[in-house]
Amino acid sequence: MKIADGEVELRVPRGYTSFMKSLETSQLKGFSRATVSSRIDEVKRLTGVDLSPASTGGLMQEAADRFVENAVGSFGMPLGIATNFIINGQEVLVPMAVEEPSVIAAACNAARMARFGGGFVAETDPSITAVQIEVLQPKSGAAAALKAAEARLLALANQAQPGLLQAGGGAVALKVRECVGSEDRMVVHLMVDCKDAMGANTVNTMAEAVSEDIVEIAGGRAGLRILSNLADERLVHVTVSIPFEGMKRGRFSGAEVSEGVVRAFEFAAADPYRAATHNKGIFNGIDAVLLATGNDWRAVEAGGHAYAAVKTGTYSPLSTWRIEGDTLRGTLEMPMAVGIVGGASVLHPIGKACIALMGIRAAGELACVVGAAGLAANLAALAALSSEGIQFGHMRLHARRKSS
Ligand code: MEV
Repeated sequence: MKIADGEVELRVPRGYTSFMKSLETSQLKGFSRATVSSRIDEVKRLTGVDLSPASTGGLMQEAADRFVENAVGSFGMPLGIATNFIINGQEVLVPMAVEEPSVIAAACNAARMARFGGGFVAETDPSITAVQIEVLQPKSGAAAALKAAEARLLALANQAQPGLLQAGGGAVALKVRECVGSEDRMVVHLMVDCKDAMGANTVNTMAEAVSEDIVEIAGGRAGLRILSNLADERLVHVTVSIPFEGMKRGRFSGAEVSEGVVRAFEFAAADPYRAATHNKGIFNGIDAVLLATGNDWRAVEAGGHAYAAVKTGTYSPLSTWRIEGDTLRGTLEMPMAVGIVGGASVLHPIGKACIALMGIRAAGELACVVGAAGLAANLAALAALSSEGIQFGHMRLHARRKSS
C-alpha cells in the first residue's frame, strides 16, 4: 500500500532473514503419545530449556498482580509444542498456547507435509512501525514545512528514546498525509525502526515528544498521538512449495488435495464471508505462537485484518495458493509486529522460555516462525476441508477432551 502525498522514501534495507539455531531434528517420534513429563524432558534435552514451570501456568499470583490492575490470579491456557517444522532450512520446535484441540495437531501435520519441499521459507521487513500524529486545522503549506524540518524532528524523536538509537534503531522518516477524511485533518507518520521490540510504548513516547514541534511548524493543534497497528512496512513474507507426493491424504491423491486447496483459496478470494474464516484459520497458528511467546496478539490480529482489507480494497485472504507443475505453492504476506525485548516476552517466564527454546535472537526471526505457523495452520485447514472434511479430525480430538 502506498501512502499518498508528501511521502519521504525510507532509507532502510529490506529482506531480513532468519538465522536462528537449528536442532538435530524437529521430527520427534512418539512425542504425541508420550506423557507430559517425558515431553518436557525431551524438549529440555533438545533445546536446553526447561518448560516444567509451565505445568502451573508459569505466572504466580504475585507476578500476575504486577502485570495488571485488580489481578485475582492467572488464566491457564494449554501450551504445546508443534513438531516437524523446518523454517529457512532450520529444524525448530514451535511452542503454541491455544485452547482449540486441533490447532497444534494441524500445525504438526502441515509442517510434516511441508518437509517434502524443504519446509517454509520466510523473511521479514525491518521492524518499521508508524506512529500517527493527528494535526487538526493545519495552515496551508504545512506539509512542505514539515518535510523541510524532517531531520530536526527525527533527531528530536530519537532524543526521547536514546536506548533505541543505541540498539541501532530509531526514527527514520516522516510521512505527511494531507486531508485525511477532511481538509482539516493532516496526519503525520513518524516511521520508527523498533529493532527487536514490538515498540508500541517506544513510538508512542516519541510521538508525544515531537507533537508540540510538529504543531508549531504545521499550525493548528495536535489531536491523537498513537501508533498504527496497520504495520504495512513491517511485513512477514512466507512461502512453501510442496510436491504433490507430500499432499496425499487417505484416499485422496496429492494432486486432488492440492487442487482442492487452490479452489478453497479461490473461494476465499471471491467471497469476504469465506475470507474471514480462511484468515481465522491462519490466525489459529499465529495467535498460538504469539501467546506462547508473550506477544501482543491483538495488535497482530488488528494489523492482519486491516491489511487483508486494504491491500486489495476488499477483505481478502492473507495467503495465496496455486499449482506450479506438480507442486502446490503457498504464500503468506501480512504485518507482523512482534518483539523479543520488553513486555511479556521477557517478563513472563514461559514467554521467555518459549523464545529461548527456539534459539531466537532477533524479532525478525520470531516473525518468520509466527508467519510459518500461520501458513501451516491455513494449509492444514484447507487440505482437510477439501478432502475428508474438517470434522473428522476435529471431533476425534474433541472426544479426547470430553473423555478425560
Ligand atoms: C477453525 O478453527 C478454522 C477453520 O474454520 C479455518 C478454515 O475454514 O479455513 C477450519
